[in-house]
Amino acid sequence: MPAGSIFVTRPILEEGIELLCGSGATLRVGQADGNAPIERAALLDGVRQADVLVSHLSETIDREVLGANPALRGVATYAVGYNNIDIKAANELGIPVSNTPDVLTDATADLTWALLLAVARHIPAAHRFTVEGHFAIWNPVLFLGADVGPGGSGRRKVLGIIGFGRIGQAVARRGQGFEMEILAHDPSKREEITANPDVAWAEIDELLERSDFVSLHAPLTEKTRHLIGTPELQAMKPSAYLINAARGPIVDEKALVRALREDWIAGAALDVYENEPQLAPGLAELPNVVLAPHIGSAARETRAAMARIVARNAIAHLHGEPAPEVVNAEVYAGTAWRSRRKAWQGADG
Ligand code: GLV
Ligand code: GLV
Repeated sequence: MPAGSIFVTRPILEEGIELLCGSGATLRVGQADGNAPIERAALLDGVRQADVLVSHLSETIDREVLGANPALRGVATYAVGYNNIDIKAANELGIPVSNTPDVLTDATADLTWALLLAVARHIPAAHRFTVEGHFAIWNPVLFLGADVGPGGSGRRKVLGIIGFGRIGQAVARRGQGFEMEILAHDPSKREEITANPDVAWAEIDELLERSDFVSLHAPLTEKTRHLIGTPELQAMKPSAYLINAARGPIVDEKALVRALREDWIAGAALDVYENEPQLAPGLAELPNVVLAPHIGSAARETRAAMARIVARNAIAHLHGEPAPEVVNAEVYAGTAWRSRRKAWQGADG
C-alpha cells in the first residue's frame, strides 16, 4: 500500500513535521510563510491532491473544502477549537476530524492569567512609559490599577468563569492561588460545578453582576455567539474587567468598544477577535484594553506537543484507523466513512 500524502496548509512546529515525514507519507506545505494565509484556491488544490489535510484555525474548512476530494481520509486541525470546520458536512461525507486538546490547557490558562494581570495593573502602558523615558520619580498614583488578590481591602475578588471545560477549570485553579471567590457558569457542566467545592454555580446574570473579572472559556457555537453583548456588558460592574482567550465572536466586539469608551466596565483583555485578524474600529485606540494576537497556546513545549498530536492524528487518518483525538467519533459508525474507506483501499490496491 503506498504511503499516501498529507497536505499541511501552513507550517507547524518541526516536532510534528518529523513524525509526519517518519511515517513515510509525502508531505506538502501549502503556504510556507507562517505570517501569510493560504489562498482559498491553494487550499482546495491541496485537498484535491492529498489523502489527509492538516489545517489551522485560521482556515474555513467548509463543505466545499471537505467535498473537494472524494478520497480525503481525514482532517487534523492544529488547535483545540474546531468551530472553523463544518462537522455536520464532515459527518455526512464520512470524514473524521481531529484536534489537539489537553496539552494546551495550561498554556491557555497561563495566557488568560497574564492578560488578567496585565489589564488590571496596566502592564503594557507601564512598559511603554518606562522604555520611553518618562519614569521621573516614584509616584503614589502612577499606574494605579485594580487589586487582583484580596490586597488592601482584604476583600476576596470575584472571578466569573463562563465555560467550565478544561481551560475554564485551569483558570479557576489559578484564581484559587489569588484567593478569589470563583463563580462558574456552563450549562453542559452544571453537575461538575455543583460538585466542585472550590467554585459556585451562578446564572449568567448573577455572574456578570458580581464578578470583578469575567473570563470566557466556552467554545464558539450558535449558542455562544454574541453571548456577551450590550445587556451583558451593562450588567457588569463599572470596576470589572472582561478577559477573552476563547473565541472572538463570543463577544459582540462593537458593543465592547462602546462599553469601554463609555466606561461601563473598567477594561478588557483580549487574545481573540470577532473578525480575526481585524480589530473592531476604535478598539486599538482605547486606553483600557490589552490586546494579544491569538497566542493562547503559544508556549514552546505546548506547541511542540500539539504538533506531535496533530501528526499522530493525521497518520491515523491516513491509515484509516480511529484518530487518537477525533472530535466526531460517530463518523466511524456511519456508512459514509465505511464506503469512503472502501473506495480508497480499493484505489490503493
Ligand atoms: C486556539 O485557539 C485553539 O483552539 O487551539
Ligand atoms: C478546551 O480544551 C476546554 O475544554 O476548555
